[in-house]
Amino acid sequence: MAHFTKATSIHDWLNQRLAIDTVRRVMAKEYWVPKNINFLWAMGMVIAVTFGLLLISGIFLMMYYQPNIKLAFDSVNYTIMKEVEFGWLWRHIHGVAASVVFLIIYIHMFTGIYYGSYKKGREMIWLSGMLLFVTFSAEAFAGYVLPWGQMSYWAGMVITNLFSLGDLHMNGIVEWIRGDYVPSQAFLNRFFMLHVLLLPLAILGLIGLHFGALRIPHVNNQEGEEIDFEAEAEKYKEGNKKESKVIAFANDFLSKDLFIVSLFLIFFFYLVFYHYEFAMDPVNFDPADPLKTPPHIYPEWYFLWSYEILRPFSINIGLIAFGFAQVIFFFLPFLDKSPNAKPAHKRGLFFVWFWAMLIDMIILTAMGKLPPEGIFSKIGLVAALTFIGLWIALPFITKKEKEL
Ligand code: HEM
Repeated sequence: MAHFTKATSIHDWLNQRLAIDTVRRVMAKEYWVPKNINFLWAMGMVIAVTFGLLLISGIFLMMYYQPNIKLAFDSVNYTIMKEVEFGWLWRHIHGVAASVVFLIIYIHMFTGIYYGSYKKGREMIWLSGMLLFVTFSAEAFAGYVLPWGQMSYWAGMVITNLFSLGDLHMNGIVEWIRGDYVPSQAFLNRFFMLHVLLLPLAILGLIGLHFGALRIPHVNNQEGEEIDFEAEAEKYKEGNKKESKVIAFANDFLSKDLFIVSLFLIFFFYLVFYHYEFAMDPVNFDPADPLKTPPHIYPEWYFLWSYEILRPFSINIGLIAFGFAQVIFFFLPFLDKSPNAKPAHKRGLFFVWFWAMLIDMIILTAMGKLPPEGIFSKIGLVAALTFIGLWIALPFITKKEKEL
């Protein structure tokens, strides 16, 4: 397994863990990847490419966007969409990428859960991934505020209101975050700064950490096997490619990865050119109006599951449940008590847990979009309780697995 020499100095340690040494090894064709993996292992690369598209399109949008509450809406919906040549294209790319990146992140996360890739020394990969998830969520929320449409304004209002902590009435925190009593110019300015500077920098740093954490012990494979990379690489280099359990990152793995990235890009640009509207809420094409609350306020699709965990309860309990949903995935490596890193279909009850969790989150997402009335609010309540129950059950289920 240990195909890296033990670090003897801070310099060595940094060199091994940051991408520097990885790049050197990749160039020298000395970087190895397990052979027994499938297309789901390309999702990390797909996220990285989508993030690149977000950065490039964001830079072009910034050339015309105006972070001013009187001008922002028109600068996006009129100047960029109608006046500037190909402005619409950059906006479509940015909007679609912001939505699709979450779909891929969820697939990436659930792949990690299915194959137990968060345990056996891979905890740091998981934790850095979760930090990326939270930072990406903040980045998306900050970006949603910028066009200063009705949903930008009212979602900004509802989410920042949560910081009053229900009956604790900590309104001072809310005003501190907004820089005013209600979302206004100060609010738009700081969310602009967060969206274009601080959070992208944090994401870049975290991607470095995530990739660094991947260096040791490298990615898992479909069977959760421990691989002696040195020995397997020797077999490969001697020409026994069939028997070796590893392949070279460059160019074997890279060409497979790029093939999947290309398929993804076809799907992506199909959405950009033909179905852009799926990534945009129609209500946000109305300019922000502080005097007119939309009848139904909801976040983008990727936040709906956690929003639905907040909604069915009274404000105080709802906030606790919401806080729980935000942090609980961080604890997965510690709540799963089984050392077994096999795929879920070889782990008995965990397989049921996995699918129950996935289906429950899909139900929560569907209910989060609907008005909280009648049968929908009842289904939402059951799904929220199931979510919490599944997490409470996880240590017991996995402990049993250990004793089997
Ligand atoms: C900007 C966001 C992210 C990028 C660019 C990224 C990139 C990558 C890449 C390139 C890999 C290696 C290949 C692969 O398995 O796909 C990887 C692995 C991994 N990532 Fe991420 N990732 C991101 C977010 C996340 C998130 C949100 C999680 C979940 C908490 C996560 C958890 C993991 C895990 C557990 C592995 C190891 C997979 C294994 O051992 O087989 N990542 N990531």
